[in-house]
Amino acid sequence: MSVIFRTFKFNLHRKSVNTPYCKCFIFRNASGSPKKFITFDEVIAQRRAEARRSLVVQVNSESSFDELYGYCSKYSIVNDVHHYQNSNNEHYMLIEFGSEDSKREVLKACSAHQKSTDIMPVQSPFLWFRAASGTKEKFSNTKKSLAVKHGNSKVDEDMLFKELLNCESVSDQLLLLYNKTKLNDMDIRLRFMVARQLEAIFSSIYANVAIKPFGSSVNGFGKMGCDLDLVLTNTVAPEMMEASRRLVFQEKICEGGRSPWQRHMELVATLLELRAPGVARVTRILNARVPIVKYSHEMTDLDCDLCYNNTSGVYMSELLWLLGTLDYRVQPLTFAVRMWARACSLTSPHPGRWITNFPLTLMVLFFLQQKRHDGIILPSLNNLIKMAGKDDIRIAEENLNCTFLRDLNKLPEDSYGQSNDSLQTLLFQFFEFYAQFDFQDRAVSLNEGVAIRKPNSLPLYIVNPLEQVLNVSRNVSFEECERLKMEVRNAAWHLESLLDGKKTDDWGILGLLEKQTTRNLKKLLKVGNNHRLVSVKDLFVAETPEVNTKSDRISKTEQSIKDSLDSKTRNLKFKNTQVAKQVYRIRRNKLL
Ligand code: GTP
Ligand code: MG
Repeated sequence: MSVIFRTFKFNLHRKSVNTPYCKCFIFRNASGSPKKFITFDEVIAQRRAEARRSLVVQVNSESSFDELYGYCSKYSIVNDVHHYQNSNNEHYMLIEFGSEDSKREVLKACSAHQKSTDIMPVQSPFLWFRAASGTKEKFSNTKKSLAVKHGNSKVDEDMLFKELLNCESVSDQLLLLYNKTKLNDMDIRLRFMVARQLEAIFSSIYANVAIKPFGSSVNGFGKMGCDLDLVLTNTVAPEMMEASRRLVFQEKICEGGRSPWQRHMELVATLLELRAPGVARVTRILNARVPIVKYSHEMTDLDCDLCYNNTSGVYMSELLWLLGTLDYRVQPLTFAVRMWARACSLTSPHPGRWITNFPLTLMVLFFLQQKRHDGIILPSLNNLIKMAGKDDIRIAEENLNCTFLRDLNKLPEDSYGQSNDSLQTLLFQFFEFYAQFDFQDRAVSLNEGVAIRKPNSLPLYIVNPLEQVLNVSRNVSFEECERLKMEVRNAAWHLESLLDGKKTDDWGILGLLEKQTTRNLKKLLKVGNNHRLVSVKDLFVAETPEVNTKSDRISKTEQSIKDSLDSKTRNLKFKNTQVAKQVYRIRRNKLL
């Protein structure tokens, strides 16, 4: 079966610089030649520096650009202005200044607080642009235009559906899906701005405070709209602890119960509520092993999880990022698997006894470590540890050793990216691999790169690569593990059925991305005796004139879907009211 799949070859075009976080950054070796890989630390440092020289300003609309640009560039150098709109239809411009000093100059010259007794003034990188009082200043027509308009708008699912339908191969579908749904530059900038906001607010209370994004916001597997995991650290710089320095700050000894940081996180939560503009719905989860404060950031539409000192989480993100950038197929494949798992409800936005995106990602990476007929795609973690040098030593909290090779340029070329298998082949092989995996006795270990004996009888065992005594899927129940086994078999079967060459309306990845409910409904609505499944789109019979071509029909139907969702009063005809209700429920639940 897999042999036939290997015939779907895909052109390998290896990338010279790892993306998507660093398109705009060019790194060079001492010799001056461009580096093939940049490090995670370099990317994060660039993004943090970018955030430090940026401001987010609420404006009236995108046409406020000329005035805002004219006003700010009077005081300082503006690199670029990026526009976005949040779900409350508020417009914002992210202004990146030439330097942090340029930003400071602007703030010194023209920032202001509101004149109200109800407000306790606070300074953060989030501001608003007040209408000019008196006569409006004329700004000469600048040649500059917005770097991006509506920078964070979500992908139109129906358009994406159509584009996926029209792809030539499943490999093309996977690349398209990845490129359309991954975090874009605007979204990444905003995540670092939200982190910067907290840093600015907390730095008056905690010395050397740093707030860093981790998890899918930076590990290369983040989808538009994914949550923002943040870690607060307050490590004191080594020079600030030198015994030769004689003026030592008077400080309070950390006091508290099980963890003094539980109390500090309580304070942090209160500060978020009282002092951080845009923050809403703060929830404290302080009794967990890693205390977390959850909140929503309304100006950026981000759901945030803030924890303290979880540096192993950051190193874990670094490890995932490194593996994801080693080969261009890793991220698209992982995206597809994560979306498939969401579509068949193996994962859920809520915590429970099911698998989550993080262990699922480890499963994909582990699969790519397996030896194939023409070499391996990803190296084992033990290989990366063996090659680590002095600069790679990292010790996280509780003395956890997180040392592994950081500079992938040092990795021998024949130790990764060796196979020519297409994404289509890999996706099929992924499902086939786990359909045959011995979950009963074996554990997934990225450290070894091969399955190892399970140390206990938990249904699913995925070794935590940085803390090998732990199982990152310990929460997964027997039933959920059984469902996982069943769904990988179903997916393999679906992809195998493509071999007959027919392109139905759920061909390739489409058949894997639709929710079970949608699939069941489609089965229910099989029409005539031609065994064609009715597309959800076909269920809408809008009052439109007869259309001739298939693409006309699709775009007209899409328009009717949009209209129907925009206006509840619109009179759409369904086959019956039960179908109408079902369709609305599906469209509401549809997740891409
Ligand atoms: P999504 O938020 O679902 O997009 O994926 P995510 O990778 O961000 O996962 P999540 O928000 O659940 O966790 C954030 C990060 O915390 C992960 O990327 C890991 O680095 C780390 N993490 C999550 N679960 C575990 C775990 O069980 N053990 C350890 N050591 N780290 C974990
Ligand atoms: Mg996350």
